[in-house]
Amino acid sequence: MKLKNSTSKIKDLSSEIDKLRVPNHIAVIMDGNGRWGVNKGFTRSYGHNKGVSVLKNIIRLSKKIGIKVLTVYAFSTENWTRPPEEVNFLLNLFEKVLDQEINELNRELIRIKFIGDLSSFSEDLRKKFVNAENITHHNDEFTLNICTNYGGRQELVKVAKELARKSISGEIKPDQINEEMFESLLLTSDFQDPDLLIRTSGEKRISNFLLWQLAYSEIYITDVLWPEFDENEFLKAIIDYQSRNRRFGGIKSVSNQSLKSSFSFG
Ligand code: FPP
Repeated sequence: MKLKNSTSKIKDLSSEIDKLRVPNHIAVIMDGNGRWGVNKGFTRSYGHNKGVSVLKNIIRLSKKIGIKVLTVYAFSTENWTRPPEEVNFLLNLFEKVLDQEINELNRELIRIKFIGDLSSFSEDLRKKFVNAENITHHNDEFTLNICTNYGGRQELVKVAKELARKSISGEIKPDQINEEMFESLLLTSDFQDPDLLIRTSGEKRISNFLLWQLAYSEIYITDVLWPEFDENEFLKAIIDYQSRNRRFGGIKSVSNQSLKSSFSFG
């Protein structure tokens, strides 16, 4: 039976994961939905719908294996240039998924955060974003960051403006600006930088995603399109990450994030 096969494949790979070195934070560029939908003889939207069900599986597996933060690129500042029908489809999809899933995500103790310039969205959608954050804010074991209308360059410009304002008002002196102060003004200031960036669909670029935060992240690129990125593919990325030698610019290997986690696919 198909389901049984895929479950047993996951079991096989799960035994290869070093449970003491699971990445703390994984960022994902979920690419290839449109192509997958069209390749299957359907529409790009069909691919986005399938992309949502893949995301749900990856969220649950992430939590199960002890990852603390999953940050996904759902809508970039550049995605507004897509045909209006596709933009509308995606915005409606966010709304529908939030309506349908928020209570279940909360029951599963998942905290939701939206990262990006939310001011461009309709008031209705903004309310749903805020509501999802409020309902889940007490869940401190696992956070899902959903980057919507997010752009790395725009985020850096935002920080630069805030620092300029603080300097002009006398709150800080320009010479006091350092990495720590800069980081504290990023939209991700509550989180450690991603240990691992996963990009699906084979494109070898970071597409304006988390430009500051990815400075020392390990990068894993797979040709698999997002709608086919199943739990097994995710585990492969983690196993690959665990084989890396992270030196952060030095010469000694730094042990990958050590987290005590225990999980089983029983
Ligand atoms: C990239 O594929 C995917 C997107 C721009 C949208 C991703 C969104 C989801 C998976 C839905 C997430 C939903 C929630 C509520 C977080 P693409 O369209 O660029 O594919 P292509 O490269 O084949 O054109």
